[in-house]
Amino acid sequence: MILATAPAPAPLRGELTPPGDKSISHRALILGCLAEGETRVEGLLEGEDVKATAAACRQLGMAMRRDGQAWVLEGVGERGLQPPAAALDMGNSGTAMRLLAGVLAAQPFDSVLVGDVSLSQRPMNRIVAPLRQMGAHIETGPGGKPPLRIHASGGLHGIAYDSPVASAQVKSCLLLAGLYADGVTAVREPLLSRDHTENMLPAFGVPLVGDRAVQGGARLRGTSLRVPADISSAAFFLVAATLVPGSDLVLNNVGINATRDGILRVLEAMGADLEIRKPRESGGEKVADLRIRHAGRLKGIDIPAAWVPSLIDELPVIFALAARAAGTTRLRGAAELRVKESDRLSVMARGLETLGVELVEYEDGIDIRGGDIGAGRVDGAGDHRCAMSFCVLGQVAAGPVTVDGCENINTSYPGFVADLAGIGGRIAAVEEGG
Ligand code: S3P
Repeated sequence: MILATAPAPAPLRGELTPPGDKSISHRALILGCLAEGETRVEGLLEGEDVKATAAACRQLGMAMRRDGQAWVLEGVGERGLQPPAAALDMGNSGTAMRLLAGVLAAQPFDSVLVGDVSLSQRPMNRIVAPLRQMGAHIETGPGGKPPLRIHASGGLHGIAYDSPVASAQVKSCLLLAGLYADGVTAVREPLLSRDHTENMLPAFGVPLVGDRAVQGGARLRGTSLRVPADISSAAFFLVAATLVPGSDLVLNNVGINATRDGILRVLEAMGADLEIRKPRESGGEKVADLRIRHAGRLKGIDIPAAWVPSLIDELPVIFALAARAAGTTRLRGAAELRVKESDRLSVMARGLETLGVELVEYEDGIDIRGGDIGAGRVDGAGDHRCAMSFCVLGQVAAGPVTVDGCENINTSYPGFVADLAGIGGRIAAVEEGG
């Protein structure tokens, strides 16, 4: 899909609730599948990534039905999964593949996990190596990439794993496998990654036995969950309103979990006009309404490397923000960006250069000098977050910005075009070749 954007002719104004949190939605489905009894989920994200997880859970025996605005999951119980009749297709979703691999590594049947072209290039040894230490039998494709062929397990044992990367996917994969292992499975990570799995397990009746540790053999019970709006989707509007003169937006019910709120800290440090309204607790997660107003020219900052895990998915749109700020914004310690849905450092750097932005790309980061944004045609490279970031930047460019490779926006934010247009943004789909 190709999206055509143009400079917003007037301030962005209004109120909206971004779609449900993608990380929490994946976990709700997987834990609901493993639980005994029903789990009721409100606010589930209905994007392609989450649909891949839902389809896999169905292949493993879970039923799900709609009940008004909610989804009701009929769990099969930890020991009730059925052998899948075919390979499980995780589409574009690294979270789906890595989390489900943890569950499947412990099952008494074989399974195969496959993905699309992008996912088939992503590193899986980060989960396969520790799962093998736990006793799992898994083969990868060449270079440790998908597909994953998981062999029937004869039983796993708990390990204490020191993860070399701050990755919630690695941590969650091992904690899920640990539910089936003998003894305790504990994960340490260099910086704290998003902690939704740790927050959600107790809601399913499984207490943690340390900060990031589970005791094998626990049984999950169905529960009720409310998924907050995804701060990673809200981020596009926080940046758009900050950039377009005169804008004033309210984003409702956004998850502001402390392991995810780095974008708010960056906005504040750069001088944005952000108001965190009615912070409250909902379904074990902190949420708030966010009011964001245009604040003139922001200033470039050095983004502390310690903040990276809490804003990892927001970095593409933070680069868009930096491209309009006064002075230079510097980022290091973000090599993980190279192994996301695309090489995000490279995809963003090429697009920003095309629009006339001065930058220096490093192996683990980037320096971006803010200035004027030119018109042009850029490539979102099939990466949802890069594509949406360029669409946001198009709202403050000197002329039209055309963005190729936008189809995967549907993985996390199917209503993005309508929502941006609804608050006054200039954006429309164009025919291929248009
Ligand atoms: C996610 C964790 C992050 C993030 C991804 C979702 C999750 O990946 O980038 O979009 O839901 O656990 P890593 O764990 O690989 O950093």
